[in-house]
Amino acid sequence: MADVDLEKIVSLCKRRGFVFPNSEIYGGLQGFYDYGPLGTLMKNNIKNIWRKWMAEHDNVYEIDGDIITHPRVWEASGHIQNFKEPLVECKSCHKRFSMEKLEEQGIHKCPECEGKLTEPKNFSILVEAQVGVVEGDKKTVYLRGEACQTIYLDYENVLQSMHLKFPFGICQIGKAFRNEITSKQFLFRLREFEQWDLQWFTKPEEMEKWFEYWKEGRMDFYKNLINKKDKIRFYQHPADKLAFYAKKAFDIQYEAPWGWSEWEGIHWRSDYDLTQHGKFAGKDFTYTDPETGEKYLPNIVETSGGVDRTFLYLLFDAYQEEENRIVLQLNPRIAPYQLAVFPLLKNKPELVAKAKEIYASLRQNFSTAYDERGNIGKRYYAQDEIGTPWCLTVDFQSLQDGTVTIRDRDSMKQERVALDKVIEYIDKGLH
Ligand code: GAP
Repeated sequence: MADVDLEKIVSLCKRRGFVFPNSEIYGGLQGFYDYGPLGTLMKNNIKNIWRKWMAEHDNVYEIDGDIITHPRVWEASGHIQNFKEPLVECKSCHKRFSMEKLEEQGIHKCPECEGKLTEPKNFSILVEAQVGVVEGDKKTVYLRGEACQTIYLDYENVLQSMHLKFPFGICQIGKAFRNEITSKQFLFRLREFEQWDLQWFTKPEEMEKWFEYWKEGRMDFYKNLINKKDKIRFYQHPADKLAFYAKKAFDIQYEAPWGWSEWEGIHWRSDYDLTQHGKFAGKDFTYTDPETGEKYLPNIVETSGGVDRTFLYLLFDAYQEEENRIVLQLNPRIAPYQLAVFPLLKNKPELVAKAKEIYASLRQNFSTAYDERGNIGKRYYAQDEIGTPWCLTVDFQSLQDGTVTIRDRDSMKQERVALDKVIEYIDKGLH
């Protein structure tokens, strides 16, 4: 078995319709990718699993906020002042590089042309846009640099409209945008990406308890999605690197081909966000408990992860090269198709008709593919490469006794199953 590397995943993603370079016909755009038909199915499955997990927790509500918000949001959040990266520029070719990355590698000349580098300057990584119709009267706005800010903006509306009591959570899956300087590792560091966040609002004295609760919960969530459990770990941020308001912060990390890398952050945000937005918007977010009269500014535990990074890490985890095949050992709930249906032979109309009838019916229950090209062995391997857990074949016996064969992706074993038991069979494998 060969180890996975990034190039193999990038190539498989393009070849099999998972992910394509954005604007490829124009030479691409660094840090932007599009999800193809199979990638979209898989990404939606991943997001549905996250949503289901969140919905299993009491008092968690999902919102769907806009990408653009009032520009003051980013002053209040500190992004306009602090969301900057020091860059150096080559005096010959004028390309810019992250100072931090060059220092890490001990590089002091331009990595492209060996030219001299300028002193570092700060560049904002917030992406700007212009809103308005009339030239000269347009307003500069920012595409959100982190999705969670919308949750703080909607916090009071959610609290009041839903008649909530503390503690409660607001969760969201949404796009974020950053002018990342180095965006070379495929889906790992994008300029347009999706985050899944939970902001858990609690009484200040209950922070410790809830921080531990969500930290462990999120680790269990990711562990349940992967095969190689030794490739995931916690990383605790050292005390001297913490934001002034944070008592502690942990990353859930995955061991990618280039080393341990962040997957999701569990952050102690205390009352920082509500204090800042209170200050900038001229509002007091102090809450008065209607039963006890107790007053407090709610504190926040944040869990913030990347959907695209999850997608990439799950491909790393699933990818296997075996003697005669490439197989994605994806969790069946994540695989783009749960099932593929084939007629044994393409030139036998009675087999094709039956297979198509079964396909039409099973599509109502599962994400299902249909294939009649090539021979059966080739069809199995084509499905293995995209992670389809089960392949159902209609053969001559099917026409006689109403049974089909189901071939398992991982064991490659086949079983005969009665047609009226197929749904039960697949359902069992999915749970
Ligand atoms: N609200 C907190 C926040 O945004 P972050 O650590 O900057 O924290 C959270 O981002 C998660 O979003 C990361 O753990 C990562 O999974 C994902 N992420 C961040 N920047 C990304 C990028 N440029 N491309 C893809 N995913 C990214």
